[in-house]
Amino acid sequence: MKLGVCYYPEHWPESEWETQAAQMVDMGIAYVRIGEFAWSRLEPQRDRFSWEWLDRAIAVLAAHQLQVVLGTPTATPPKWLLDESPDIVAVGADGRRRGFGSRRHYCFSSRTYRAETARIVTAMAQRYGGNPAIVAWQTDNEFGCHNTTVSYSDEALRAFRLWLEEKYGNVETLNRAWGNVFWSMEYSSFEAVEAPSGTVTESNPSHRLDYRRFASDQVASYNRLQADIIRRYHPDVDIVHNFMGYSTGFDHHKVGRDLDIASWDSYPLGFLEQGRFAAAEKLAFMRQGHPDFAGFHHDLYRGCCNGRWWVMEQQPGPVNWAPNNPAPLPGMVRTWTWEAFAHGAEVVSYFRWRQAPFAQEQMHAGLHLPNGEPDVAAFEAAQVATEIAALDTGADRRSSVALVYSYEAEWIVEIQPQGEALSCYHWTYACYTALRELGLDVDIVSPQASLQEYRMVVVPCLPHADDRFVAELAGLTVPILLGMRTGSKTESFQIPGQLPPGALQTLIPLRIARVESLRPDHAEILTLDGADYRAHYWLEWVETALPALMSTAAGRGVWFKHTTATHPGIHYLATWPEAALLRKVMQAIAVEAGLAVEEVPPGVRLRRRGEVQFAFNYNAHPVTLASREYVLGEALIPAGGVAAWKGR
Ligand code: GAL
Repeated sequence: MKLGVCYYPEHWPESEWETQAAQMVDMGIAYVRIGEFAWSRLEPQRDRFSWEWLDRAIAVLAAHQLQVVLGTPTATPPKWLLDESPDIVAVGADGRRRGFGSRRHYCFSSRTYRAETARIVTAMAQRYGGNPAIVAWQTDNEFGCHNTTVSYSDEALRAFRLWLEEKYGNVETLNRAWGNVFWSMEYSSFEAVEAPSGTVTESNPSHRLDYRRFASDQVASYNRLQADIIRRYHPDVDIVHNFMGYSTGFDHHKVGRDLDIASWDSYPLGFLEQGRFAAAEKLAFMRQGHPDFAGFHHDLYRGCCNGRWWVMEQQPGPVNWAPNNPAPLPGMVRTWTWEAFAHGAEVVSYFRWRQAPFAQEQMHAGLHLPNGEPDVAAFEAAQVATEIAALDTGADRRSSVALVYSYEAEWIVEIQPQGEALSCYHWTYACYTALRELGLDVDIVSPQASLQEYRMVVVPCLPHADDRFVAELAGLTVPILLGMRTGSKTESFQIPGQLPPGALQTLIPLRIARVESLRPDHAEILTLDGADYRAHYWLEWVETALPALMSTAAGRGVWFKHTTATHPGIHYLATWPEAALLRKVMQAIAVEAGLAVEEVPPGVRLRRRGEVQFAFNYNAHPVTLASREYVLGEALIPAGGVAAWKGR
């Protein structure tokens, strides 16, 4: 457990670097990330490199035994490069070229930009590869941020056609896979294929899914381009990328395969304000963040790179980019930091060392005020540094519950929501919340992951379940929950011949004959254990001989369970139950799995790391837990506070 900070030496007079580095050490900072937006300072004109300032900045940090994470500057191609090669910019779905003057304006498919990327990354890696102060490299910055994964440039279309040719071999196969006989959409060659934009009405969902897969693969191969160069010149150091919260544009599991460490940028208050949460929740948690937002992403990114992950950017105070930007509760930055460690983070790094008085992020807090005086978070970070030095938790371990999440599932539901409120991400998040409210630790894993060591497996929504995944589930002997729309599509976005849930019918004997999406202002009433609950958004008409564990008022079964000699329970849930009911369903399955469940107090979350059990109070009021020997805090946890103890 170590702390880090994001630092921009190029923003401050060189005369202050020495003092800043000394202050970092005093605060207990061990890692410093630098460089990720500095292209215009590293290469002010083509091939006129100016490394000396960065050499000196690294040397100052190294002299203080600070470990450097060096970012490649490719998220911000400089103006001279754009003027030289306008074809590097991305084009939006509206056909407009992205302008210069912010960041992430490049297109992942631009051959020119890939060549330029290779050039600048090679130059940097040649200069700094082997520098002992550099312990890790960060590729680019937040792939996909500002909605930049998909581009509709000519370069993207050219690359898409090649991608299709590689995938399908001949255009008749593509026509069949996409069902292009419909509306006379058949193509006679790959060169004739268009990007799925600018059509009069909806373009073909199979076409769009392939475009999303293609765009995602472009991100993965672009990251690999950088990682390969860095590894050539600087073997044996870690390569990391900083993912974002609620970022579903590309397959993070795939990008993770070329990294040594996954990391993400955690801004709990910004994401609460920006996210799809009820107004009452936004108000209740406005200075704490939603109790599951950080945890969900910690658990998601822990599953992206063999369990190794960091928080690369931790919110230190008000941000500048959400509709409203409140300040965290006192102590909240410390609590967020501890929560990341409790979920297994190796490093938590704050964004940023000092608030910039200029440009776009001048209203974004840092650990220090623009004038260099410490701000609130500086004291909280220093406190955590002291605390982590004193608390040995032991190593993080596997959780008992696997929650399967697939980026491709997300794209399928986005492309064909069928009801305005449908979202794979939000439904998965609701399942996560239900599990976490029962005090369960959760690993969020890809459908490619091995599920063998889990005691309960939840698959909230996986429209395309491939043969490997079906076989993986068939080989388990633990309770499984399959959620709505799982198995409802083939690889090429068609309805399976045997009807949904397709091949999963070998696991549970039922089929879905019809689905209806429900108006957001309508709820179906479900009864369980004598109490009435509401179900929203989605209702499948299930045909089966299995008895229903729960039905709508009209008698339509929505929860089914199949037991076999090897499987204690394969469950199917055909709707989106309200939170209290979803928790009941999860509880029943967890009990079947033999897991110890306890309803934790509202707004509190638990997480075990090694020998230590942590409790996080996301409420704006204190809560009191049982009295026991605490290694951090005490039974009375203040608003936005943390406590921890050894044992259960
Ligand atoms: C992140 C980004 C940083 C900074 C920060 C502000 O998304 O990586 O460069 O912009 O947001 O909150």
